[in-house]
Amino acid sequence: MTEKPDGFDSSLPVHAKPHTKKGCIALSEYVINGRRKLNGVIDIQGAKNSILPILAGTVLCQSEVILHHCPNITDVETAVRILRCLGCVVRRDGTTITVNSRNMHGYAIPDELMREMRSSVMFLGAILARTGYAEISLPGGCELGARPIDIHLNALSQMGMIVEENHGKITGRTVMPLHSANINLSFPSVGATENIILAGVLARGTTVITNCAREPEIVDLADFLNRCGAKITGAGDSIIYIEGVDTLSGTQYSVIPDRIVCATYMAATAVSGGKVLLRGVIKSHLDSVTTLIQQAGCEVEYTREGISVSSDGCLKKLRLIRTMPYPGFPTDTQAPFMAMCCFAEGTSVFVENIFDSRYRHAYELCRMGAEIDIQGKVAIVEGNREHLSGSVVEAKDLRGGASLIVAGLGAYGTTTVKGGQYIDRGYEKIEEYLGNAGADIVKI
Ligand code: UD1
Repeated sequence: MTEKPDGFDSSLPVHAKPHTKKGCIALSEYVINGRRKLNGVIDIQGAKNSILPILAGTVLCQSEVILHHCPNITDVETAVRILRCLGCVVRRDGTTITVNSRNMHGYAIPDELMREMRSSVMFLGAILARTGYAEISLPGGCELGARPIDIHLNALSQMGMIVEENHGKITGRTVMPLHSANINLSFPSVGATENIILAGVLARGTTVITNCAREPEIVDLADFLNRCGAKITGAGDSIIYIEGVDTLSGTQYSVIPDRIVCATYMAATAVSGGKVLLRGVIKSHLDSVTTLIQQAGCEVEYTREGISVSSDGCLKKLRLIRTMPYPGFPTDTQAPFMAMCCFAEGTSVFVENIFDSRYRHAYELCRMGAEIDIQGKVAIVEGNREHLSGSVVEAKDLRGGASLIVAGLGAYGTTTVKGGQYIDRGYEKIEEYLGNAGADIVKI
């Protein structure tokens, strides 16, 4: 049994129960009749990878936080359930979420919520900074090969966390408040960078993270925390400085648009043909993606409202696509772009550098007639516009699931994508947005 820090209220329940009913994930599937042109406007939802660490950050704030442009996705529901478990008061009204953590009293995240998504690990740094003691278990989420949290734990240990791991249960505690450290990451892990930021904003002294992740969602988290009174500089570069402050207050904040969702709709437009305006995006976040969409033969137009993509459906191969940390091509976009390349004339080669096992969608694409050869981190796609036809396929993870929807849009006949609950973790009303643009897609 882990000894709790001095002054810690041991009368609190070890596992605060969720205020909402125990989460059961609704199974869903998508049915698509392909080969319909897309035309219209799609408003891009708020970024999943921003709102999740920002929601974790709300536990650090002593007064009300109002967050706008929050996507309606199941991962956000999970984060809200975690906050309620911790005793935070959370209200949701459309895309606005209000969190008041003033009377937060919990410190433990139940195993069933930890298993639902990997980002739940982000709460470790935040709860520790707020209460000095946190209990979590090994996080779940999409199966993308080994996803250890050693970088998170090493970094937080350098800041004074005493960690104990026992059969998948992790407890972190601090005898003194967390303190600053100079932390050099062995890999620019997005989640670890966010965890250190969350732990560092209330720590004593200035924490420096080198070789940190530079993703736009890191900048979004830093911007949000700075609005609450934190002192973070360098976010977006590879060295971040976090000068600890005594308290954080509340604020109103609007989450950035989701660049991965936008890239998915670009691939959907490319395979379907037509013209779609992706409204409300931040163009610079999509540079590596729009370059490839153009190479595939689509026209990209930057307008005041967003990015417009048009395609005549005749796509060119992409030669070599390597996934890299930002500003490189995102691993989360690899799967939808692989589906797109199945329709392009010629051979496209993918190299997945971020995760070990991120090609499970390729086997499902092959059920639709795609020709994909996987050799370790390399996938070789022999594209042909006429090869894919409708089939029953199964999403195994979030972005892989989205790739099957992209494939279904371009394929002849009817495609049924089972495992739609993975897609619902990150895509808000995907059937409605695509349907409004002319796709024949329903969710069951
Ligand atoms: C985040 C994103 C996810 C994206 C990924 C990479 C969120 C909520 N999720 O995930 O959509 O695919 O970045 O851009 O923002 N690693 C370790 N030890 C650690 C941490 C990571 O070995 O302690 C490895 C991972 O196994 C993986 C690589 O580092 O191979 C990248 O992981 P990381 O950047 O941490 O991804 P996440 O934060 O989990």
